[in-house]
Amino acid sequence: MGGGPVLVVGCASQKGGVAKSSLARLLAREMAAQGQRVLLADLDVRQATSLEWARRRAEAGLRPELQVARCETVKNALKQARQAEVDCLILDARGFADAQTLEVAGAADALLIPSGLAVDDLLPSVRLAHELTRAGIAPARIGVALCRAGDTAGEIAEAARYVAEAGYHCLPVAWPERAGYRRAHDEGRVATEARHPSLRGRAEAFAAGILDFIARQPRLKKDDKHGRS
Ligand SMILES: Nc1ncnc2c1ncn2[C@@H]1O[C@H](COP(=O)(O)OP(=O)(O)OP(=O)(O)O)[C@@H](O)[C@H]1O
Ligand SMILES: [Mg+2]
Repeated sequence: MGGGPVLVVGCASQKGGVAKSSLARLLAREMAAQGQRVLLADLDVRQATSLEWARRRAEAGLRPELQVARCETVKNALKQARQAEVDCLILDARGFADAQTLEVAGAADALLIPSGLAVDDLLPSVRLAHELTRAGIAPARIGVALCRAGDTAGEIAEAARYVAEAGYHCLPVAWPERAGYRRAHDEGRVATEARHPSLRGRAEAFAAGILDFIARQPRLKKDDKHGRS
């Protein structure tokens, strides 16, 4: 593997603290566990939470080992991914949407927007998706992932409907907020490595839905900088 075009997945949002980094790490771990070579690019060079998390993971000796790099720009992340000959580059975007968000989206074969369930969370997510599509990003490449969610099936279904009515794909499984996931992150783990089997099972279902969405995306052409294909 390696050497071919790198699959690029972006995790971005309008709001901060919605689980971009947690999602990026989860996908990096799941892809690495499938035998893919993965680079996780932490674009939030000030917070660098994914870089810090990677340090905790390495200290704990967890497998698979993950490559996490501090990248100031998307261009630099792409360059590092090519140099490392990885199969997949995951872009963990900065806390809030800014000029770089469009660069992340433009480079991404799939762009994931994590969102909470309330209208206060969904509206900024959909607005960001609209901004990106107005700038030329193909709406089919955008997936909204319901994260840090409550557990009420009706509330989740309502949120999924909101996303679908706005014209975007809502990932099929929501990721509930649990202390056990927080603890896993604190220990350098991802949600599918949480200590409790029921938490792991739920996270596996969540991750599987996203990996399937990513796999269904046609790869961007090299010269297609804004995901129009
Ligand atoms: N499903 C979950 N259950 C419990 N805690 C969670 C869950 N998902 C994420 N968290 C926690 O929520 C906090 C914010 O998550 P994270 O850092 O991934 O968000 P972010 O969008 O990357 O934040 P920022 O905008 O600051 O970059 C972290 O403490 C993380 O461990
Ligand atoms: Mg983050």
